[in-house]
Amino acid sequence: MPQYQISHSPKLSGEVAISTAKNAVLPILAASLLTHEEIILHQIPFLTDVRHMADVLRSCGAEVSQQDRDIRIRALSASSPRDAALLRTMRASVLVMGPILARAGECVLSMPGGCAIGQRPIDLHLKGLQKLSARVEQDGGTVRVSGALRSANIYLDFPSVGATENLIMAATLTRGVTRIENAAKEPEIVDLCHFLTAMGARIAGAGTANITVEGVECLHGAEYTPIPDRIEAGTLACAAALTEGSVLLVGARTDHMRALLFKLSESGVICQEDARGLRLRGKARHPMEARTLSYPGFPTDMQAPLMVVATQTHGLSVFLETIFENRYMHVVELKRLGAHIRVEGQLALIQGGHILNGASVTATDLRAAAALMLAGLAAQGQTLISDPGGHLMRGYERLEEKLRALGAEAEKVAD
Ligand code: EPZ
Repeated sequence: MPQYQISHSPKLSGEVAISTAKNAVLPILAASLLTHEEIILHQIPFLTDVRHMADVLRSCGAEVSQQDRDIRIRALSASSPRDAALLRTMRASVLVMGPILARAGECVLSMPGGCAIGQRPIDLHLKGLQKLSARVEQDGGTVRVSGALRSANIYLDFPSVGATENLIMAATLTRGVTRIENAAKEPEIVDLCHFLTAMGARIAGAGTANITVEGVECLHGAEYTPIPDRIEAGTLACAAALTEGSVLLVGARTDHMRALLFKLSESGVICQEDARGLRLRGKARHPMEARTLSYPGFPTDMQAPLMVVATQTHGLSVFLETIFENRYMHVVELKRLGAHIRVEGQLALIQGGHILNGASVTATDLRAAAALMLAGLAAQGQTLISDPGGHLMRGYERLEEKLRALGAEAEKVAD
């Protein structure tokens, strides 16, 4: 079981490079199934979720090879994943549904598992595909979508990131013009659309609530480098805010991080756009209010990391988690370190200004694991983080090494 040891760390300083975004790479890998020609992706991070998605693509009949950070995919044909179990290990596997349905006329998936943070249903994905004339049959833990797709006007009851991505991908090979209203606007959606456009897709409105896709006969190969990871950058920005750091996050896209940077600035951190990325100086001092919302609102993936910053400011901070139903599991572990936090439903009240003391804690999900790493920087003494689910490596490329590069005392002590 992976374990990390973090000691109370002095001011962080220096610079560290931001990896490309997990949540852009995963849909882009799925989209590679839409063409029989070769796809070449660059700067792909070494993450467990990326490895899993590559295995899912192989299970769908694609050839996938990796050379350092370059991945080559060629899906001469695309069919439902043979290895259903793979899909239960990672929810993002559901993103192959749209491409396979559009390419092969049928896709059978085992329903993706929920996870610690919520049930993670896919009703919006299925409802949208039905609007595109797909037949949807559910039998126990399996869902089958099939049939020739026809363009349609789709309204999403909630701007679901995954549903938006699946429907865009399905619509790229569907004759006619498909409109998706109340679509998600995340930068990762825009990046997926840039990639699909490089493959010959005809998409307008990416990054807005109204996306139109004009279907084409077929898509061709492409070569692409995904955007930097705004959540990794945000996590490292929180590390700097906790330790009064002076750090440069090389490659960070500040235009993707406005909500977080406003929160950190309001709390007293100096956030400056730099020609090479994002520079942060100083410590968060004032309490904050954060309500997680769809983009461009404050991102739910940053709720746990920013909560650690809130524990070190002086006063009462108030967080409201509106996206996932169970995303406060890091609170119990933070309280073990001495944080004063009270959860009332989707509300969390953080009474800041209390010293954290190192202890043994356990990671419950990906962003909780990152939050505990940050808490270890602020806590007196040493903090041992056990990560039985291997959560941290799913979404962060050697976070302990990146923190160490900034002067933190952080290391992985067990695999
Ligand atoms: C994506 O998940 C991200 N994952 C998540 O990041 C991120 O937290 C989330 O978007 C919100 O920004 C990837 O991109 C791989 P949603 P996704 O569909 O697509 C409900 C991380 O830590 N919903 O926007 O699954 C759902 O239950 C991960 O990197 C339905 O009810 O998010 C949730 O409450 C965690 N029915 C809310 O919507 C549906 O059909 C947001 O889900 C789909 C979603």
